[in-house]
Amino acid sequence: MSVRKITANISGVGKALPEKRLTNADLEKMVDTSDAWISQRVGIKERRIAAPGEYTSHLAARAAAEALKMSGLTADQIDLILVGTSTPDTVYPSVACLVQKELGASHAGVLDISAACSGFVYGASLAWGMIKAGLMKHVLVIGAEVNSSIINWKDRDTCILFGDGAGAAIFSAHHSDTDGVLAMKLGGDGNYTDLLSLPNSGCRVFTDADGVQTGRFTTMQGNEVFKQAVRNMAECAVYVLDRAGLTSKEVDLLIPHQANTRIIDAVAKRLDLPSEKVFVNIANYGNTSAATIPIALCEAVEQGRLNTGDVLVIDAFGAGLTWGALVMRWV
Ligand code: ACO
Repeated sequence: MSVRKITANISGVGKALPEKRLTNADLEKMVDTSDAWISQRVGIKERRIAAPGEYTSHLAARAAAEALKMSGLTADQIDLILVGTSTPDTVYPSVACLVQKELGASHAGVLDISAACSGFVYGASLAWGMIKAGLMKHVLVIGAEVNSSIINWKDRDTCILFGDGAGAAIFSAHHSDTDGVLAMKLGGDGNYTDLLSLPNSGCRVFTDADGVQTGRFTTMQGNEVFKQAVRNMAECAVYVLDRAGLTSKEVDLLIPHQANTRIIDAVAKRLDLPSEKVFVNIANYGNTSAATIPIALCEAVEQGRLNTGDVLVIDAFGAGLTWGALVMRWV
């Protein structure tokens, strides 16, 4: 009698977005920019902004509750809650802990993941590992951000890029040799810490030439990040496909991190993927960091873009530098 291996499938997805929309026209009134520049160079038309008092944990819990409902599980069946975020309500308690309380997931371990925009893929990979090892059955993975809290609204280089939101997916044990999660890869390079950073977000104090503490705002060398993102996302996707014994020709849907349509197009070109096989929703939400992939995953499910047997690749890149990809055959 053959025993099928344990892997993970996705049993539920959810998303939560603040109501307030900040359009490119709104930004034209705030900084020296234009709808044409943002649309052509980045592909964003509007982004959502959290209301005062609406924190990352609120968005995360709403997305998680939706995912839980779809899965048909009860909160006490969740073994672990992982939250990818760079904008936790507080460093401690973690967002995962606040979500656990909100859901009543009393049997769940709780952990926030600091991997910037790659946080969801890092969480998904850890979820897969715990399930594959037979240690857990259901792991809730969330990407959630209130990026508007770390944006310098006077800096046109960065303020046009980001938005707030959350997405969630529940990874559940699944016995199969052929479907569910097939392969993953996580990567990083600490030699490029200066390309993307959030000064004054930890114990280190950053000062200007006069010794005055600078702001707690995202800083970025956009051009260099762009090149690193394209190269690492493309290589990582090829790697996981190879590990799964697949080629990019067999991919039905790529869900890439939504940072810039030109990055997404360049990655798709390197993988030789036509645009209809690439999920893009950046126009509506901007870059929601760790939340872009789970929000897109939720929308792909809502739109019927994923069918049983489809090969899905999720592919992320973020500050650190960090990157990661995961390939699964949809169940
Ligand atoms: N509006 C109008 N003009 C602008 C704006 C703006 N908002 N921002 C920059 N410009 C100008 C520049 O000043 C420059 O003008 P100049 O030619 O007169 O000097 C010109 O536009 C070109 O600027 P670049 O920085 O070279 O523009 P680029 O094409 O590189 O686009 C961008 C910038 C959008 C940031 C791009 O580099 C990018 O998307 N990078 C990757 C970002 C990313 O992937 N982040 C992901 C990780 S985020 C995370 O992990 C938290």
